[in-house]
Amino acid sequence: MTTSAVPAWTLLEPGVRRSASFPIAYGWLSFLLRGGADPARATLVRDHDGAVLRRQAGGPDPAPVRVTWDTAAHRGEQVHLEVAGGADGLDGLLLGDRITDDTGLTPVRIGLDNQPAPGSGTDAERYAADPLRPQFHYTPYRGWLNDPVGLIHWGGRHHLFSQSHPDEPRWAAMHWAHATGADPVRWRNAPIALTPPPKATPTDDSGIFSGSAVDHGGVLTLVYTIFTDVSAHPGAPAEGVGIATSTDGVTFTPVPGPVLAAPPAGSAAGFRDPRVFRDPTDGQWSMVVGSGDGGRGSVQLYRSADLRRWTHRGVLFAGDGRTGPMWECPDLFPIGADWVLLVSVLDQVHYWVGSYDGERFTPATGGVLDAGPAFYAAQHYTDAAGRPLLIGWMGRWEVHEPTALNGWAGAQSITRELFVRADGGLGCRPVPELATLHSGPDEAPPGPLAAGPDRLALPGGDTLDIELTLDLARGSADTVTVAVRESAAEATTVHYDRARAELTLDTTRSGYGTGGRHPVAVRPGPDGGLRLRLLVDRSAIEVFAGTGEALTARVFPRYAESTGVGVTATGGTVPLSASVHRMSSAWA
Ligand code: FRU
Repeated sequence: MTTSAVPAWTLLEPGVRRSASFPIAYGWLSFLLRGGADPARATLVRDHDGAVLRRQAGGPDPAPVRVTWDTAAHRGEQVHLEVAGGADGLDGLLLGDRITDDTGLTPVRIGLDNQPAPGSGTDAERYAADPLRPQFHYTPYRGWLNDPVGLIHWGGRHHLFSQSHPDEPRWAAMHWAHATGADPVRWRNAPIALTPPPKATPTDDSGIFSGSAVDHGGVLTLVYTIFTDVSAHPGAPAEGVGIATSTDGVTFTPVPGPVLAAPPAGSAAGFRDPRVFRDPTDGQWSMVVGSGDGGRGSVQLYRSADLRRWTHRGVLFAGDGRTGPMWECPDLFPIGADWVLLVSVLDQVHYWVGSYDGERFTPATGGVLDAGPAFYAAQHYTDAAGRPLLIGWMGRWEVHEPTALNGWAGAQSITRELFVRADGGLGCRPVPELATLHSGPDEAPPGPLAAGPDRLALPGGDTLDIELTLDLARGSADTVTVAVRESAAEATTVHYDRARAELTLDTTRSGYGTGGRHPVAVRPGPDGGLRLRLLVDRSAIEVFAGTGEALTARVFPRYAESTGVGVTATGGTVPLSASVHRMSSAWA
């Protein structure tokens, strides 16, 4: 049962409230907590000796998130709650041997005290404990993560570095975290590769910003942005380029001093995220760097023979002002006879497919690589088999991830394979190796299947690989909606509108956070079939159309029951074929 006995509160001192005492009569205690930076935002204190039994740091979200504590070990003890750092931050108290709220559903168990200590148990066990932690997407066990950087297939392993702040689940002085895998889907943590310089002041956020990796005569060489926090270092250049080398792929030694100390003229909005590659036009090293000036993003081009001395070759390509003032994370690479340019700007990854002559890039087509709300700072690498692979950060700056209350924030997308689509645009699809994480056989119900007004239930779960082919040529429906992470209270949906030829990812009812509707134009294949692949990984959702379009989001369901998967159609029915695989942990 659950009770909501709200104890009386008194003000202990400005900003700190104390509840009346109450006995722990049940196994669980749960409350809604509003964000607030205090490291001891909510504490459960034992009356007789003042011992702190449970403690929860504040999260980043001003909206309330439900925290649940296991109190079984303290049954019968007399306790009180304290809330610090904005004393009105805690309400909605529930006590019970099973917690349900007024929806009758079970809130997902959020709270750092439910998480295994770093280093305890196996990776798979620790990573499984958090109901919002993806199981086959790379996440930091503790701390913050943003851009994937330095991607390379080197020494027989795939290397994934990440912009990281390992100490807290918020962006601050940047490190390069490091993980490697024998394949591009099972990452294993390695020691932190690059660390920021010692802080000059307590708030000094100087660190190692984004960059890339190359093999230079057998030496793994990282090329990165040296970011200097000018509030702590007045007069210093904010951004330059540095390099570090490794012969074992584990330990990295920075080369003293920057290889580029200052930006070129025309880079007022920023100068960062060097991407180095062996340039097939002349066999030299080329480097593209993100920049912007006068309201227009641009990409600067450099050349070098030795990765140490660089010559500025001018602006490779510049925006017309419509694609944002500062272009981040540029990437330039060939796919077959085409050249692809990527830049990240205003929460999206923009691409152009065109040509490159060693000095300038000329676009033929362009667009947004992923139309979802959480795909940014993507970087490609080429594996030993020559496949152009890509990983993006499943984030955007303004999102408050409730997982911060569990000690971490940020996830990388699964590894995708890039291809030039039939219409000349840039497409992506999951790497085939993802199927090696299927935990068993296809669990879709035996056919023939059809979507119609009555919900077609597919096997549910919170880690799934769902493939659907909608036979629009033989179907009459106007719209088809696939719901995942669904319960009576919430769902994330993917909706196809045949007349508009539009696929929409709708996160407005997904759970915590403010969602949105994210459409992308998608046409059925020549046979009239619309192929969809949905990767559901607790709080990570990636949707791929067979034609190469993608929609990526983080969603934070509030309830443990939100595991349903169902398909409905309006205006008629559509025959479909389905496969549904449960996914195993990539950490196992
Ligand atoms: C992109 C970005 C990069 C920068 C890094 C800092 O998300 O802003 O331009 O190098 O993140 O963490």
